[in-house]
Amino acid sequence: MAEPTLPESQRAWTFSTWGLPREILTLNSNYVVPPPPAKADLLIRVSHVSLNPGCYVTMATIPPFVRRIISGNTTYVAEGEFAGVIQLAGPAAPPHFKPGARVFGCLPVPKLIGGAGTLAEYFVIPAESVALVPPSISWEVAAGLAGGGQTAINMLLEADLRPGTRVLLNGASGGVGTMALQLAKAKGAFVVATCSTATAELVKSLGADEVVDYRANAPLPAFLAKKYAAQPFEYIFDTIGTQELFTHCPQYLRPDGLLVNVGNFEGPIITVWRAALNTYLPRIFGGVPRRYAMISTTPNGEKAAGLAKMVHEGRLRVVVDEVFDFEDALEAYDRMLARNAKGKIIVKVQDV
Ligand SMILES: NC(=O)c1ccc[n+]([C@@H]2O[C@H](COP(=O)([O-])OP(=O)(O)OC[C@H]3O[C@@H](n4cnc5c(N)ncnc54)[C@H](OP(=O)(O)O)[C@@H]3O)[C@@H](O)[C@H]2O)c1
Repeated sequence: MAEPTLPESQRAWTFSTWGLPREILTLNSNYVVPPPPAKADLLIRVSHVSLNPGCYVTMATIPPFVRRIISGNTTYVAEGEFAGVIQLAGPAAPPHFKPGARVFGCLPVPKLIGGAGTLAEYFVIPAESVALVPPSISWEVAAGLAGGGQTAINMLLEADLRPGTRVLLNGASGGVGTMALQLAKAKGAFVVATCSTATAELVKSLGADEVVDYRANAPLPAFLAKKYAAQPFEYIFDTIGTQELFTHCPQYLRPDGLLVNVGNFEGPIITVWRAALNTYLPRIFGGVPRRYAMISTTPNGEKAAGLAKMVHEGRLRVVVDEVFDFEDALEAYDRMLARNAKGKIIVKVQDV
């Protein structure tokens, strides 16, 4: 069979400076298509992309010279999560990753920062970062599974969850939260989940044992101290990065408990600074007397395959907030910046 051919140029949402999506992104109709992949890389024809808040945060905070040092390029493609078809496979790619195979996954961080992103018709990714999409799973669901699911897995790997382990999940209705909730419930944990009124039914339907409306019960730490001091949590999973939740946690987190954070909604730079203090500041200098871990996504095909299996078997549900057309990607970013998405925001790139 003849090898699939590549067009000379493609459509891609690109940027070359830093700022918010509406300020810096343009739909580039003449962007270069990557050359045939080397080694175990795969050239993907993208079907759908799932937006990740971390990507627009890095767009706004990473100076272009850093991206240039990493990739040598001056134009960068947005985003890092995808579902699509393998167009060409490198010579060392595993045999099951052949042209035509449906795959999904997320880009390794250096590629993401270097701007070799997924919000394009074609991009290249190492085979080790992708997994096959089972026939039962739609493109939208596969795209939505990659980032939030792997981030949630990493959060749970920090913990020893057993039946009945008491867990507080902050931000249960977002892309990471909906995944972390279901994975924690699959391990038998007792999960108290925070969300707003509008998403409470969704969060209950995903298995939360108790739901706390973080708006109606503000300030949240005082409410948690009152309600859960007698039965404190063993773990807090925070997908938002609410610093006050950690500062006051000795009132509702056991002395041997752990808070695991992935969120940076209070600002990326302040979050990095606070994460260092939260992790290392000794209590004699005012540190909070509880353990803290800030973790990140590490794309991994095996983890992605495990998530796909769970979805295929009906043990994990991907919540899709809305699907936008490729041309409407800026509206998809507006939706994400509103910070009240129910699950994942997806962009359809093309029919594949
Ligand atoms: N470290 C990593 O590798 C990594 C990877 C992926 C994501 N992240 C980060 O993790 C965070 C979450 O990502 P995501 O994809 O889950 O975001 P998302 O889907 O955009 O989150 C939106 C959700 O956040 C909830 N929310 C907003 N403010 C809240 C608050 N104060 N308390 C509780 N819930 C609140 C909203 O809930 P309601 O509508 O119910 O109010 C909404 O459902 C982001 O900061 C992202 O950058 C980090």
